[in-house]
Amino acid sequence: MPDRDDAVALLEEWVENEGLRKHMYAVEAAVRHYARLRGEDEELWGLAGLLHDLDWEKDPENHPVTAVERLRELGYPDEVLQAILAHRASFTGVEPVSDLDRHLIACDELSGLVFAACLVRPTGIDDLRPKSVVKKLKDKAFAAGVSRDEVAHGIELIGLERSEHIQNVIDGLRAVAEELGIRGEDVRS
Ligand SMILES: [Fe+2]
Ligand SMILES: [Fe+2]
Repeated sequence: MPDRDDAVALLEEWVENEGLRKHMYAVEAAVRHYARLRGEDEELWGLAGLLHDLDWEKDPENHPVTAVERLRELGYPDEVLQAILAHRASFTGVEPVSDLDRHLIACDELSGLVFAACLVRPTGIDDLRPKSVVKKLKDKAFAAGVSRDEVAHGIELIGLERSEHIQNVIDGLRAVAEELGIRGEDVRS
């Protein structure tokens, strides 16, 4: 099975946009955090998070089918391919069935909102609490590209309280805050 270094090299080959790269790293971190919490395979879950939007820049029309075709050729595990297809079930027709599928969906849009929330706070992610994220969630004009319906759908899929899920995503992102540039000292400079 290809490892994380292979996946990062692939990501850097396919994705040029810095924002999209950070989104993929953020979702990886959130999904990995859940793998840890659930006693699941962190490497496997991490690969799905890291690569879920691989073709978004190169072939948005067929996202994520183009990516999955390539990943299949490269020998990525079925669980990873399935999760990536299921994160866009409305397009692929592949429904989420595994815990990995469900957590990838739940972390995808919410990571984007948490990331955006960090950037508008002088303290970044340092002291970010679910309450502040909920406020941003309710402010439809904030990070308008983040689908509130998708966030709600994800929370429903994993069956946690909203604030508990938000806290878990914050914890996941905090582990890579420096790389994402979302610590207080990063956003202030
Ligand atoms: Fe996507
Ligand atoms: Fe995504």
